[in-house]
Amino acid sequence: MQKTIINIEDLSFVFDDGYTGLDHVSLSIDKGEFIILAGKNGSGKTTFLKHLNGLLIPTSGMIRVNGKQVSKHLIETRKTVGMVFQDPDTQMVGDTVFDEVAFGPENLKLHRALINETVTRILKTLNLFHLRDRNPSTLSGGEKRKVAIAGILAMDPEVIVFDEPFSNLDYPGILQVLSTIMDLHRSGQTVIIATHDIEPVIFEATRMIIMKKGSIMEDGNPMALVGRLEPCGVREPCFSKFNMKPESWQK
Ligand SMILES: Nc1ncnc2c1ncn2[C@@H]1O[C@H](COP(=O)(O)OP(=O)(O)OP(=O)(O)O)[C@@H](O)[C@H]1O
Ligand SMILES: [Mg+2]
Repeated sequence: MQKTIINIEDLSFVFDDGYTGLDHVSLSIDKGEFIILAGKNGSGKTTFLKHLNGLLIPTSGMIRVNGKQVSKHLIETRKTVGMVFQDPDTQMVGDTVFDEVAFGPENLKLHRALINETVTRILKTLNLFHLRDRNPSTLSGGEKRKVAIAGILAMDPEVIVFDEPFSNLDYPGILQVLSTIMDLHRSGQTVIIATHDIEPVIFEATRMIIMKKGSIMEDGNPMALVGRLEPCGVREPCFSKFNMKPESWQK
């Protein structure tokens, strides 16, 4: 039986300048789902994702993670919901890749030996171990993205949120990040991805939510919704445009 992990009721968010970023959004997310969040620039994807771990607090409405109201349980929420930001540079604080990934577990005050073991395991899994002594600012865009993912994995969150994980990546970079995301989902983690690039993930996703002007326009099976993308300003994937069979990007 599936268990609800995030529950959102009538969530609205108004920015300081009066602009409505989210307009009466209601939905719930079950453990183990793999959700694509689609929508054109400015549709409210990042604003929505920032509510999932309390970086933004609703103007009205309610968001609960594991049954607890986010605004009243910020630390617990951030342990449960990890977020890989649109621009990984904004997330980097360590002098080395190792320290960068160790930063989260250090804040959780875990034992040093356990931190070292966890960070080493994650760096090896993501094929980053050879970069452990490098300064994160000297890495390529794809490497930085993977280090940001490693930093989130080190916190062992139940839900991982990716904001545009494929932007600025070349094809091999997309494949690397994609395979990391697929492995996470297959190991039971709940994954939410905001992306303009639907094609690499649609084969694996269990659900697609399409946003427009801060509202949810569509929410359902990704394959069933591909034809509804373009009215919302998102390019329909080639396979459906040309009536071809969808093919996984994972070889
Ligand atoms: N601090 C702010 N003050 C006022 N308006 C804002 C602020 N931050 C974002 N917005 C507006 O809210 C809307 C939604 O922005 P958001 O970043 O959530 O869009 P998005 O769907 O993530 O877009 P993109 O695909 O470009 O990342 C945009 O029109 C944006 O200009
Ligand atoms: Mg965004």
